[in-house]
Amino acid sequence: MKELSLHLLDIVKNSTAAGATLVDISLTETADHTLTITVADNGRGMSPEMLAAVADPFTTTRTTRKVGLGIPLYRMAAEQTGGALKLESTEGVGTTVTAVFHLEHLDCPPLGDLPGAMATLIQGSPGADFRFSHSTALGSYCLDTREMRELLGPEVPLDAPEVFSWVTGYLQEQESAIHT
Ligand SMILES: Nc1ncnc2c1ncn2[C@@H]1O[C@H](COP(=O)(O)OP(=O)(O)OP(=O)(O)O)[C@@H](O)[C@H]1O
Ligand SMILES: [Mg+2]
Repeated sequence: MKELSLHLLDIVKNSTAAGATLVDISLTETADHTLTITVADNGRGMSPEMLAAVADPFTTTRTTRKVGLGIPLYRMAAEQTGGALKLESTEGVGTTVTAVFHLEHLDCPPLGDLPGAMATLIQGSPGADFRFSHSTALGSYCLDTREMRELLGPEVPLDAPEVFSWVTGYLQEQESAIHT
């Protein structure tokens, strides 16, 4: 069973591969143990035909391999918990992928290393901006790389090793504050 943070990594990589300059990632856990993960990007989007075909695991624009599995596996993971996946996309505007998971379902994968996944995404696409937010019944936090850029100034790029460790540490701290 693949951890949710690894699924999320795949879904956000689709956004950066589609040329997104801003990806908004939000996780919302409600008191009834429902987790909604939304990834909204301003990438090139998909045509209605592409959008309809994407649920089919044999659709991909990758040239190195014939099958695209990121979205079908993510959909399967959500549906196995009694949740669902919704894809919305407009060509030239962007794409939003919304997944609902029932956390207490026996088949719900663990969240995994969310701080590590986010730090990896930021380091891997230093030209793009990410807004990451997570809220639970205990509280919420948000990290925005646009604000980080302002604080760091032009000298320190987002793929600097010290930025990676700072992001990891910051997110670990924030995660422990909103989970029991
Ligand atoms: N955010 C997005 N913006 C634009 N197109 C997207 C987006 N997400 C997915 N797609 C399109 O849908 C296709 C299928 O995505 P999926 O993640 O299932 O497979 P893949 O990325 O091609 O391969 P894999 O994820 O297995 O490495 C992609 O090749 C891409 O053309
Ligand atoms: Mg993919």
